Amino acid sequence: MGKSAKFWDRISKRYSKQPIADQASYMKKLEITREYLQPDMEVLEIGCGTGSTAIIHAPYVKHIHAIDISSKMIAIAQSKADAKSIGNISFEQLRIDELDVQDQTLDVVLGLSILHLLENKEEVIAKVYKMLKSGGIFVSSTVCLEDSMHWLKVIAPFAKLLGLMPLVKFFTKEELQACLSDAGFAIEYSWQPGKDKAVFLVARKSG
Ligand SMILES: C[S@@+](CC[C@H](N)C(=O)[O-])C[C@H]1O[C@@H](n2cnc3c(N)ncnc32)[C@H](O)[C@@H]1O
Repeated sequence: MGKSAKFWDRISKRYSKQPIADQASYMKKLEITREYLQPDMEVLEIGCGTGSTAIIHAPYVKHIHAIDISSKMIAIAQSKADAKSIGNISFEQLRIDELDVQDQTLDVVLGLSILHLLENKEEVIAKVYKMLKSGGIFVSSTVCLEDSMHWLKVIAPFAKLLGLMPLVKFFTKEELQACLSDAGFAIEYSWQPGKDKAVFLVARKSG
């Protein structure tokens, strides 16, 4: 098992009990996402964690495939969905780079608090673009550490070595938006609730 999976497995129980830091912003992000959902849609969530967001959106779409590198996160997500008798989410323990989805088959991809945790966000964004149908939507929420916490750069490698932090990447909001545009996406909606808050983006595959 890789270091990243181990880290997320280790903190999964604590993560599942943590209250949402900014409930009002979370609700607004859910509402905006909901505006793009339709009952016949196929949705993928990458880095779904304990499944809270997938569970909220599930009644509004046909099916959600929700993946996460951590088997413990997935186990918690599955038990939450079972407790609510939600049957249209397939939770799967899988790294994003292991994911094999046919091109142009998805309506919406969700990537919430995940892009800054990837070694290769450019590759993942390109992969998401390929998997989406023309006109498909990529919804992301990403903390842009280069804007808000660039001082963390000094500490991050040591904290990671000690197993206190996962891998994190530092980039600005502009760099993230450029990444999406370079992949072919048109950014349709951009919202940052506060200076140090995650950047919420809705990007559409041209078509
Ligand atoms: C900060 S949590 C966010 C979870 C959830 N999306 C949320 O908003 O609460 C990041 C999640 O991404 C998962 N993750 C990290 N790297 C991953 C990868 N390469 N492939 C799949 N999942 C990954 C972690 O296991 C963790 O559950």
